[in-house]
Amino acid sequence: MSVCKGTILKLISQILIPRHLFTFFTPFLPHLSKKIGFIPCRDYLRNMIDFRSDTVTKPTPAMLAFMQDAPVGDDVFGEDPSINALEKITAAKFGMEAGLFCPSGTLSNQLAIKTHTQAGDEVICDELSHIYQYEGGGIASNSGCSVKLLHGNRGRLKANQILAAINPEDVHKPISRLVSLENTTNRGGGACYQFSDFEDIQKVTKAHGLALHLDGARLFNALVHKNESPLDYGKVFDSISICLSKGLGAPVGSVLIGSAPFIKKARRWRKVFGGGMRQAGFLAAAGIFALDHHVDRLAEDHQHALLLKDALAKKSFVSEILEVETNIVIASIGEKYTAASLVAALKEKDILAIAMSPTQIRFVLHLDITPEQVARTIQIIELL
Ligand SMILES: Cc1ncc(COP(=O)(O)O)c(C=O)c1O
Repeated sequence: MSVCKGTILKLISQILIPRHLFTFFTPFLPHLSKKIGFIPCRDYLRNMIDFRSDTVTKPTPAMLAFMQDAPVGDDVFGEDPSINALEKITAAKFGMEAGLFCPSGTLSNQLAIKTHTQAGDEVICDELSHIYQYEGGGIASNSGCSVKLLHGNRGRLKANQILAAINPEDVHKPISRLVSLENTTNRGGGACYQFSDFEDIQKVTKAHGLALHLDGARLFNALVHKNESPLDYGKVFDSISICLSKGLGAPVGSVLIGSAPFIKKARRWRKVFGGGMRQAGFLAAAGIFALDHHVDRLAEDHQHALLLKDALAKKSFVSEILEVETNIVIASIGEKYTAASLVAALKEKDILAIAMSPTQIRFVLHLDITPEQVARTIQIIELL
């Protein structure tokens, strides 16, 4: 078959083959592709190695089986045994009094902000914070608060910066009410705080009557990397949001933990925001399974991230890589590639990554990336 004819057929197959037809042909593919010299498929059918985010994981068969057997009830009535168990288990791990199951990390963060503040208050956070960058302006629209943004180190703040950002008692100024930190930091490339920094920050927030919230979307990555105790976190923070649907590999869900009165108030706001679910225990069961089975294995993702970093560091078009601490690799790109063109070149080879800016590319390691896929990705990087 001529190259030209092959290319045209390949293009037609990419554009025209609908999903159901493709599913029908799947068993015949190896034979068919041998005959025609290429694999007729659309992107969604290729076996992509997906480094775009740790949110892309699918439940494992064991997790699905556990979910299917979950006892459920109406959670708005407080009658879902699986949700009640997840909330209790999570709070107990951190030595906190109560938990609240939420459909997303965005909701659990926003509920924390709403519950800690009143309209007109001010929230202090790093300029890279997820609550500021990626929650749709929810601090303003949900809670009516202003934000004081600080310039930290890869998303991490120090106590003296926070102290300097607290407004004096002055009718002209909003009331500084809440400090929100993130660990690990998403935009900061999976960087972890030193625990002593939290203790220093707590001294400042306590002395000035501010609440201290932690966006712990990837807190378990930090706990595993630093070999820290969740109980210590419970002593420092007034509230923590923990995501089950990132590195822990559950399909849905976050848990907000804090004191019993705080969670009681947040539960009311969850209903107001439309986040009260009914028989969602099937989803909470995925979280329980994840906490039991997917925590220690995060070390494997961190190991994979280091391997990927080493491969990227050898390339002349990579000018800088942020120190890899957990499961995120952020590299600065130059020379023959922009971040977008490198993403496109990788996609041609069935590897998905994200351009974070015109010059930065991000890879996130997770449960669904196997050692073989990491090895294959490294081979491909070596050939770029
Ligand atoms: C640090 C951080 N916080 C919160 C969230 C929000 O989680 P969700 O996508 O479940 O709303 C994310 C999502 O990636 C995140 O990275």
